[in-house]
Amino acid sequence: MFPNKKITVTILLAVSMGFVQSFAQKEHDHDEEKPKNLKVLSSNTSGREVHKIMKEYSRALGVRCGFCHVSEKMEGQERPRFDFASDNKPEKITSRNMMKMVSAINENYISKMIGGDHTLEQITCVTCHMGNKTPVVKVSDLRKDEKERDRD
Ligand code: HEC
Ligand code: HEC
Repeated sequence: MFPNKKITVTILLAVSMGFVQSFAQKEHDHDEEKPKNLKVLSSNTSGREVHKIMKEYSRALGVRCGFCHVSEKMEGQERPRFDFASDNKPEKITSRNMMKMVSAINENYISKMIGGDHTLEQITCVTCHMGNKTPVVKVSDLRKDEKERDRD
């Protein structure tokens, strides 16, 4: 009934790969942009490196770029336009403080631990946030997990 099924699938694949490729190209261009407002990261961090770090922050907090960055909805376009260099969002300022805090904890405490088997060596955003905007900070929040664990 579908003698051309294979051909149809091949064409569909080719078309979708084209889409993926043009999207990847766009992301690549964005990576090439030189960061112009770094205050905590070293000022010679490349656009590509910054993007990698940003993806990590997003995953650590379970958010998208717009949680920390100013964006503007563009008429007729699905994706908003970001102003990544702008400091006009409190979450970005908080994050800079968090970055400094993380460095201080690692430098002053974690790297000075003695004895024991320290395989983690340093903390990152995910150590506290674990995919949440605000970390789970109350022991009572853990109870559900503990009950589930007890059942095993
Ligand atoms: C949890 C907050 C947070 C999230 C989420 C986040 N960023 Fe950032 N971003 C920052 C902070 C803080 C800086 C500034 C770092 C500094 O001052 O050293 C920054 C800087 C940048 C810069 C450099 C801008 C410049 O010109 O100085 C780019 C580009 C950027 N982010 C892109 C992204 C992208 C793309 C995403 C989503 C994948 C993202 N960010 C998600 C907090 C965040
Ligand atoms: C030592 C634990 C810890 C680490 C590590 C940590 N955070 Fe946080 N962060 C917190 C706590 C606790 C709060 C919430 C404070 C409150 O809500 O009272 C918070 C809040 C935030 C907020 C504000 C969220 C909101 O809803 O306004 C941002 C943004 C943030 N952290 C970003 C980061 C980033 C980026 C990193 C890694 C560079 C990081 N944090 C690492 C403990 C941590």
